[in-house]
Amino acid sequence: MVQRSRLLDALGLVVFFIAGACRADTTVAVNPTSHHTVPTTLWGQTYEEVNSGDGGLYAELLQNRAFQKVTPNTQEALVGWHSINGANINVIADPIPVSPFLPNALQVTFPPNRFGLIGFGNEGFYGLKVDTALTYKASFYYRFPTATSYRGNAVIGFQTVSGLSLGSVTAPISGAQTTWTQVSVSVTPAQVAFNNNNYFNVVFDAGAVAGQTINFAMLSLFPPTYRNRANGVRLDIATAIAENRPGFFRFPGGKNLGTTIDTRWQWNTTVGALLDRPGRVGAWGYTNTDGLGLFEFLQFSEDIGASPIMGVWSGLALDGSSIEEKDLGPYIQQAIDQINFAIGPTSTVQGMLRATLGHSAPFPLTYIEIGNEDLLSSDTYVYRWRYFTTVLSQNFPQLRYIATSNANDPVVAPDPTHWDVHAYKTPSWFAKNSFFYDSFQRNGTLYLEGEYAVVDNDIQATHDRLLYPTLQGSLGEAAFMTGLERNSDIVFGAAYSPLLNNVANTQWTPNLLSFDVNNVYRSTSFYVQKLFATNRGQLYYSSTLPNPGGTLFWSVTQESSTWVMKIVNTADSPDNITFLLPVAVRQGTSTVMKGAATDSNTPANPNLVAPVISSLVLSVASKQLTYAVPSLSLTVIRIT
Ligand SMILES: *[C@@H]1O[C@H](CO)[C@@H](O)[C@H](O)[C@H]1NC(C)=O
Ligand SMILES: *[C@@H]1O[C@H](CO)[C@@H](O)[C@H](O)[C@H]1NC(C)=O
Ligand SMILES: *[C@@H]1O[C@H](CO)[C@@H](O)[C@H](O)[C@H]1NC(C)=O
Repeated sequence: MVQRSRLLDALGLVVFFIAGACRADTTVAVNPTSHHTVPTTLWGQTYEEVNSGDGGLYAELLQNRAFQKVTPNTQEALVGWHSINGANINVIADPIPVSPFLPNALQVTFPPNRFGLIGFGNEGFYGLKVDTALTYKASFYYRFPTATSYRGNAVIGFQTVSGLSLGSVTAPISGAQTTWTQVSVSVTPAQVAFNNNNYFNVVFDAGAVAGQTINFAMLSLFPPTYRNRANGVRLDIATAIAENRPGFFRFPGGKNLGTTIDTRWQWNTTVGALLDRPGRVGAWGYTNTDGLGLFEFLQFSEDIGASPIMGVWSGLALDGSSIEEKDLGPYIQQAIDQINFAIGPTSTVQGMLRATLGHSAPFPLTYIEIGNEDLLSSDTYVYRWRYFTTVLSQNFPQLRYIATSNANDPVVAPDPTHWDVHAYKTPSWFAKNSFFYDSFQRNGTLYLEGEYAVVDNDIQATHDRLLYPTLQGSLGEAAFMTGLERNSDIVFGAAYSPLLNNVANTQWTPNLLSFDVNNVYRSTSFYVQKLFATNRGQLYYSSTLPNPGGTLFWSVTQESSTWVMKIVNTADSPDNITFLLPVAVRQGTSTVMKGAATDSNTPANPNLVAPVISSLVLSVASKQLTYAVPSLSLTVIRIT
């Protein structure tokens, strides 16, 4: 039982009649004279590896395509590969490697007395989807260790694991070829596969090829990619990310920057021809092909209209080892080279390399992040931050440098103008901390919430990370985000993290998007991000503040002449809210996402919670807009 508030003055003088234990409706007066610009970078995306690149965002379909970082002559070196019809397959260290960076090859020996087709196949990453609607690009290198008179055809295509062909093409193979030669074909599958238990295969007529030995290297299979980029990203995952219209894309991570000094992410090992990329054992224990490299990250950022936030390795590895101050020089030079690759003129070696890869114009790079969560080694960050920012800003005064430690712990100099703050907490922590930035000084220092997520719930406090975002958690994030919008004069960006979860090999949860071979699953937190990002607005308007201990949160922005109100109710009971706007409005839409606290969108139930849009028409144009807020909900009202 709540009595309606009564409007005495259209510009905000309101009297509440409160009866007994009933509470008054919330009235939000929008101040027409107090507003600030919302940065276009406000809602962005952070990329973390966590099994999300190879077999995920990166569209390559073959697992272990180039036998990178494996031990030759072991069974483990054959991960992903199978013999078909009795061919002998083995990974060797080739005396004449396909490139200095890829020492290993698949050696295939064809025994006598076999019939039909014989060769080898790859099972893909956790299965291989074969789609008759798509044309795939397949390629590999081969050479004969010893010249022979063999002349025959490789049959390149798809089959089920039980041997049913799903379609193939042929390419001529010559035994005279003792140096590496590339074969490239396009294959459109002819038969529909019942499931993902399929191989991409390279097979030969058993009679003709009997007795031959052939080495293979850098085998690759791509479906059509996002924007049809060569060596590009997976269409459905990229489309989902783009749906969020990220204002920035932060890469290469995160922990992906490196577990040890030797295995750190180095830009120059991730660019250029695939034969020039040695790969690397990443932070999650498996080999990264680095096919998704610096150029691909920059290209993807550009393709989705996101401003890149590029991390550079800052002399600290995750295992805790730091480079000593006196030895930092070469690492800073590597960061300079990395930045030149992104923005340097073609008069620089690195800028020229970018041009030869098809992008002579500089990428629109503004932000450089110095390391990741460097508070983990705060003592050495003092000199690492000083040295990196001093030298980099001498070279690139136009760029902004982001510090990755908690503000003032340790005290670093020069005083950072940009901080990256990370938070992995509970729903109630996020709701309370929607006021976190309200008390910060407006002195020119800017903040990035480069990683945040509700990872545990309030009720159980199990301290086990949630497997998938829950509605309750997502609404905690939404409440927090209303505070980031209010403070977007000093908060220039924010990203949920981690972004991608390969459900066949989950590493770190919860995630914004989950995916398997066939599908992408949009979480409740994904929809929160999407609703905020696609309704960001250009101007933030000050309005009555939410109650810090309360359950109702809001923010008001304006996009051209449309008013955009975001309303979050973290309580399990409905509420009412009345906005008093500076101008009369009449019609628009309301988009509502609601459900039960523990609701999650999962592969088993992917669309349990999703935003629903309806039109909103007032009987007469009015400055006053009352909205009945559903329990546990996020609403975006757009009204003109
Ligand atoms: C990458 O650059 C570093 C130094 O900046 C160098 O030591 C290394 O050999 C380079 N690696 C490749 C594969 O070019
Ligand atoms: C701005 O204020 C923050 C505290 O809100 C402080 O940490 C920072 O050093 C100040 N920056 C400048 C440039 O004064
Ligand atoms: C919201 O307002 C309506 C209309 O006055 C009223 O019937 C309803 O009880 C109110 N709901 C809450 C939760 O206050």
